[in-house]
Amino acid sequence: PAPGWTVEADVVVVGSGVAGLTAALRCTAAGLRTVVVTKARLDDGSTRWAQGGIAAALGDGDTPEQHLDDTLVAGAGLCDEEAVRTLVTEGPDAVRRLIDTGALFDTDPESGVIQLTREGGHHRRRIAHAGGDATGAEISRALVEAVRSASLRTIENALVLDLLTDPDGRTAGVTLHVMGEGQHDGVGAVRAPAVVLATGGMGQVFSATTNPSVSTGDGVALALRAGAEVSDLEFVQFHPTVLFLGTDAEGQQPLVSEAVRGEGAHLVDADGVRFMLGQHELAELAPRDIVAKGIMRRMREQGAEHMYLDARHFGAEMWETRFPTILAACRSHGIDPVTEPVPVAPAAHYASGGVRTDLHGRTTVPGLYACGEVACTGVHGANRLASNSLLEGLVFAERIAEDIAARPAATAPVPDSAARSEEAPGPLLDPATRIEIQRIMTAGAGVLRSAASLDHAADALEALYRSAAAEADQDRGNDAHGVHDTHGVQDTKDTEPGVDAWEATNLLLVSRVLVAAARAREETRGCHWREDHPDRDDDTWRSHLVVRLTPGRA
Ligand code: SIN
Repeated sequence: PAPGWTVEADVVVVGSGVAGLTAALRCTAAGLRTVVVTKARLDDGSTRWAQGGIAAALGDGDTPEQHLDDTLVAGAGLCDEEAVRTLVTEGPDAVRRLIDTGALFDTDPESGVIQLTREGGHHRRRIAHAGGDATGAEISRALVEAVRSASLRTIENALVLDLLTDPDGRTAGVTLHVMGEGQHDGVGAVRAPAVVLATGGMGQVFSATTNPSVSTGDGVALALRAGAEVSDLEFVQFHPTVLFLGTDAEGQQPLVSEAVRGEGAHLVDADGVRFMLGQHELAELAPRDIVAKGIMRRMREQGAEHMYLDARHFGAEMWETRFPTILAACRSHGIDPVTEPVPVAPAAHYASGGVRTDLHGRTTVPGLYACGEVACTGVHGANRLASNSLLEGLVFAERIAEDIAARPAATAPVPDSAARSEEAPGPLLDPATRIEIQRIMTAGAGVLRSAASLDHAADALEALYRSAAAEADQDRGNDAHGVHDTHGVQDTKDTEPGVDAWEATNLLLVSRVLVAAARAREETRGCHWREDHPDRDDDTWRSHLVVRLTPGRA
């Protein structure tokens, strides 16, 4: 759709989690005219749901080198070592700068030293936390306050649609659909020569996920439509311990942080047996993929729908002070972790892949940057190490701001005539398709995958796409004859399509690419588990699956 309003800027940051707001604050500090656009409210993304904390070598005796080792092991042979080295070396100072920005981490009441916990895959206490188990909420609070004090221009309720490019293929801004924000209502554009994608993840591709409802893969979909390279989409991380609310639970599910295991909780089956003992030297604190697989195997062996996390031995006081958020979530569902084991099962949690970037957050489209969960910087490989995500958002957002500020070409004004958006992204889907996509993906491309399950998912997704395309064609034909039927596909002519139609469209696009990658990777590695190829195959598969679509043909 043609933009109805336009804002000019040097940089537009899309998304308002730890990555987006850090990039925006640093760009503003560098004197760049910066606009933040975000799909809901400033604090509505995934960051505020992060519980466990942020990993960095801050403790006595810990070193970036040890953090590097743990990250590489978790990444199962696919991390980019240089990217990881950048992350772990710059991480501790980035956390200190976050503290300077106003984030309050939990400290020892006597010494004032930051308290550190453990999570899966870490060989030492390395995770800083806030409010016990509300680390993301505190980081989000501090960054939103800083953004407000810096009078940074923000546009909320703004779903990003597509990238604007100039005739040379350089970034020229983004188009947006804004709902109810006064002067910026409806479809408009922010024109800027640098765009930072920080739109978060795509957990809503699956029925049950720890991600909020806004995590619909919008940034990856935009990047695909713009012809940027996307990598490693098959590596979806399933968090091992999500509160089990029934096999038919859909949407965002309550997380039970790994930090609960870090402080000594045990995973047990219905008979009280600690089944992770003997499976890995770190038992319950093995890397996340190994624990998720351990749980799934035991569930299968016993025909069980879930396992249990037992932390009754913490006692009421520890639960109340150290894990108040989780305690409240469990109790609101009628489970009291102080007196009973908590039912848990794996659910979709994190996209280890995303829009491919270099060490400065640059994508393969000039002027387009990505950081945070939407990006694939190479630090996560086939399986992200616990609590490295907030850190990645921080470190690479800072690097992006430095890169934009240091490259005058990136901030040259966009000529008036230059900006154009690529063609419409094919048919826009009926919002109701979202649930169908989630069910197809959960059945075919969930924790356990096989050629048969993935073929079935691919066929079902293709059928959804074809039927939407056919209905769009039919609507076009009907329009030509003065007939209007909006059933199935949103009518893009008389009414602007709603945010939910774009979300469903984005979910379908990222699902199709994810399934294609998962079909191609015929091995088991990290969080990609192929039942028909149960072993890791370093001879054939120690490589990345990179996808690039022709712009406008997504
Ligand atoms: C958790 O608290 O278990 C989640 C941490 C993470 O995803 O890194």
